This record gives sequence, C-alpha cells and structure tokens, in this order.
Amino acid sequence: MSDILTRKIYEGKDKNVYECENNKHLAIEYKDLTLTNGGTKAGIINNKGLYINKINSHIFQFLEDNGIPTHFVKELNDTITIVKKADMIPIELIVRNVVAGTLIERTGLPEGTVLSTPIIEMYYKRVNMENPMINRTHALALKLCNPVELDVIEYNAARINKILGQHLITQNITLVDFKVEFGRVNNRIVLADEISPDTCRFWDTVTGEKLDKDRFRQDLGNVEEAYIEICHRLMRA
Ligand code: ADP
Ligand code: TMP
Repeated sequence: MSDILTRKIYEGKDKNVYECENNKHLAIEYKDLTLTNGGTKAGIINNKGLYINKINSHIFQFLEDNGIPTHFVKELNDTITIVKKADMIPIELIVRNVVAGTLIERTGLPEGTVLSTPIIEMYYKRVNMENPMINRTHALALKLCNPVELDVIEYNAARINKILGQHLITQNITLVDFKVEFGRVNNRIVLADEISPDTCRFWDTVTGEKLDKDRFRQDLGNVEEAYIEICHRLMRA
C-alpha cells in the first residue's frame, strides 16, 4: 500500500495530519512548535517532533504487543508516523493516578496526592466549546458512540493505565495521568491520536521531577532535556 502523502487535512496545536495516497492511512507529523494554556502560550521546543515521534511509537507498539488494538502502522521518518485512518469518537478520556493539573482545583487535594483508585474522566471533544467534562449518560444521549463502544473505550483506558504504568515504573517513571482518544477502523475500536509527554504527566519516581509538557506550561526549565530523558529511558525498557 502506498504511503505517499497527498494533502494536509489538519493543522493542530502540535501536529499536522496528512492524507495518504492509499486513502486508508494518515500521516501524523509531530512539530517542534507547541501551543498550550488555552492557546495563550506558544513556543518552539527543539527536536520535540523527533522525540515525541519516537516515544509515541514505542508506547503504541508496546500497547499493540500487549493486546490493545491501535491505529499505529509504522514510523515513516524522524517526525512522521503512518496510522490507520479512523472515524474518531469525539471523547477524550483522562486517566489519573496522582493529583495534578485541573484535578487539584476539583478535589482541593495537594499536587502529588496518590489516589486510592484511578479516576477516569470523559471530555466532549468539541472545537470552540473548550471540551466540557461529560459522563457516560451525556456520551450516550449525544450518541457520541454506542454503549458497547463506550464499555470498550473505558475498559481499554483502564487497561492501558495498568500495563503502561507497570512498564514505565521499570524505568523510574510514574504515570501521573494521561489523555487518550479512540476511533473506529472497520467497526473495531482502536486507540488513536498520541500518548507522549505532550499528553501525559510523567514524573521521575525517585525525585518527583516533572518530565513532561508541564515544564513548558509552568516554565520549569529545559523541556528538550526532559523529552530526551523519557526517550532514553523508554528505549532501554
Ligand atoms: P487537537 O488538539 O485539536 O486534538 P491535535 O493536534 O491532537 O489536535 O490533532 C490531531 C487530530 O487528529 C485530532 O483531531 C485527532 O482526533 C485526530 N486523529 C488522531 N489520530 C487519528 C486517526 N487515526 N484517524 C483520524 N483522525 C485522527
Ligand atoms: P489536566 O490536568 O490539565 O486536566 O490534564 C490532564 C492530562 O491530560 C495531562 O496529562 C494533559 C492531558 N491533556 C491533553 O493531552 N490534552 C488536553 O486537551 C487536556 C485538557 C489534557
């Protein structure tokens, strides 16, 4: 199948998406440019596209190998990955193991509090609506997916949390929280989009150092160094 890129179909905050000639695949290009804090903070993180591409490919391949169906096909080059084109379900699931980010204000608990059981949140992915938080009944009433699909995405989000968390801890990385999106390929639910330090919180298990995009969001020092560190640790996992 030909993976020649034909046209750019989407320009996102941190990535571009291209159609491929075969019409079944997309090419996701990870950029060094980043936009965060509700679009108010922009910047270039040197080589971010390259490191995100490597980290994301490693994680998707690891999840595939451990029974999670994903959209991953192959890395095309340093910054581009080929994926199966999916009919995306407009829900973001955020899984949390430790209090951080917006969970601080919703619980009143201090950052770093370890949760007794993981929390799974759902957000309605809707441009210009700042992705409101929803629950199962909203998802079903709005027909974002059917009940079986909802069970599958919730089950897979919890399973990813478990197996990825166990994998990362071997390299002294604590999986604090992460965001996942799912889509349909030939009526089967697959994990899509990305899992990387741009969409997760990764803390050094020993020192508590933040090794993710919070370094950029909160001006916590060299971001490239953190992404290189995560990449190196995963490559030896
Ligand atoms: P946003 O911040 O708007 O989510 P991104 O920069 O993450 O944007 O852009 C990537 C876009 O590509 C998202 O809308 C995501 O849902 C979509 N996407 C990711 N994987 C796939 C896939 N396999 N098939 C179709 N669309 C996908
Ligand atoms: P939050 O604490 O800001 O709600 O974010 C929780 C996690 O989800 C964090 O690891 C960042 C990730 N995330 C995304 O990747 N994209 C998003 O749009 C949001 C809101 C969070």
